[in-house]
Amino acid sequence: MTLVPADLDAYLTANDDRIRGELFDFLRIPSVSARSEHDADTVRAAEWTARSLGAAGLTATVHPTAGHPVVVGEWRGAPPGAQTVLVYGHYDVQPAEPLELWTSPAFEPTVRDGRLYARGSVDDKGQLFLHIKALEAHLKVRGTLPVNVIVLAEGEEEVGSEHLASFIEQHVDLLRCDAVVISDSAMFAPGLPSVLSSLRGLAYFQIDVQGPAQDLHSGSYGGAVVNPAMALARILATLHDDDGRIAIPGFYDAVDEWPAAVREQMRSLPFDDEHFRAEAGSPALGGERGYTVLERLWTRPTCEVNGLLSGYTGEGAKTVLPARAMAKVSCRLVPDQDPTEIEGLMKAHLARVSPSGVTTTVTHLHGGRPWRAELKGPLFEAARRALAAAFGREPVITGEGGSIPVVGDFGRILGAPVLLVGFGLPGENAHAPDEWMSMENFTTGMRAIATLWDELAAH
Ligand code: BES
Ligand code: MN
Ligand code: MN
Repeated sequence: MTLVPADLDAYLTANDDRIRGELFDFLRIPSVSARSEHDADTVRAAEWTARSLGAAGLTATVHPTAGHPVVVGEWRGAPPGAQTVLVYGHYDVQPAEPLELWTSPAFEPTVRDGRLYARGSVDDKGQLFLHIKALEAHLKVRGTLPVNVIVLAEGEEEVGSEHLASFIEQHVDLLRCDAVVISDSAMFAPGLPSVLSSLRGLAYFQIDVQGPAQDLHSGSYGGAVVNPAMALARILATLHDDDGRIAIPGFYDAVDEWPAAVREQMRSLPFDDEHFRAEAGSPALGGERGYTVLERLWTRPTCEVNGLLSGYTGEGAKTVLPARAMAKVSCRLVPDQDPTEIEGLMKAHLARVSPSGVTTTVTHLHGGRPWRAELKGPLFEAARRALAAAFGREPVITGEGGSIPVVGDFGRILGAPVLLVGFGLPGENAHAPDEWMSMENFTTGMRAIATLWDELAAH
């Protein structure tokens, strides 16, 4: 049976306090990619990441882009014939608002009950950082690594990774690798290490409905002028049928049958609908008829309203017929749906269903391809052994409802297989107030990754 190498384990234990302190420093930088007032902070986080890679023993460069910078770390001293792995992560974070709902400040990391609370603790700074420290352990203890390593840290993941695919295309020689490893997801349950078999893709739209040139008195005009808020409501109601299926013609054409073996293995996971409902804090669960909750989350596409805006929303009543209405609508996609094709279908559908008397415009904000893992080969086998060594039990294979836009690009541009092993947990509040990462998962995850490089080289 594989064990966590004792020399690396001892190093990480001896340096526990320092590692923790550095992680806290990283988390104190409010690197919110969505807000331009934080642009200096994303640069600071990129530079911090590069310094941390440098201290670990890699050479690191901060590459400016048209958006937030990309950080590339390199260490290429492995013996001839060794593999080259690329570790991807993101140093940007989601906005922390609403701030008043945080128990402790979002950018002041605080440990309570073994949970490290801070924006970015689990998504993704904590998980990116544990990779840097696993590399540091190898390089400080042994002065070498059994694989060549490239670390690619971006600052635009939370806003759709707009500039990353072109960066990869322009730096194919720099980034060429045999495999990609990513920790930006969660384990299925505490103590249960998990390897991802899929991610959903994304196609994100803004729908604007323009009615009269300005707001109107709803008594003087209402009933005789088309109301854009009502028009938008009608439009949104056409997106699903009564069975919860998406009613956009052609939407499911590219949806690929899920491999029977993966579905079967999915059914064997310990999952309780009621527990999930309670964790979501929702009065009931819903979705497409004929599918289990995990199938709905992992294997089926969605089309969901993410935001709505129109008319008077202040205190009390105001009789007004709004001039315009707006909705943010995002579709989660599954293999082999293509975000650009979905954009075409969405636009054609909305052009058909938009009532006369208003002008409807659709803007595609960003997209990402869905992804499905290979789940075989030396990298996958090494991950099994490394996770089993660190966590004391074999990993399970899980799916994922969320998206990491660049993942599909790694295969497409670099031709490299991707392994997703995450160390978050259900209920970790990613993107929400009181985001946390389990300190135990941070510590154990760091050891699992340190072990992974030995295991990959040994077989
Ligand atoms: N780390 C997440 C992806 C993820 C979500 C993995 C849930 C596992 C569980 C990533 O940072 C993320 O939030 N992605 C966005 C992508 C979007 C902004 C383009 C998402 O899924 O909404
Ligand atoms: Mn993430
Ligand atoms: Mn995220």
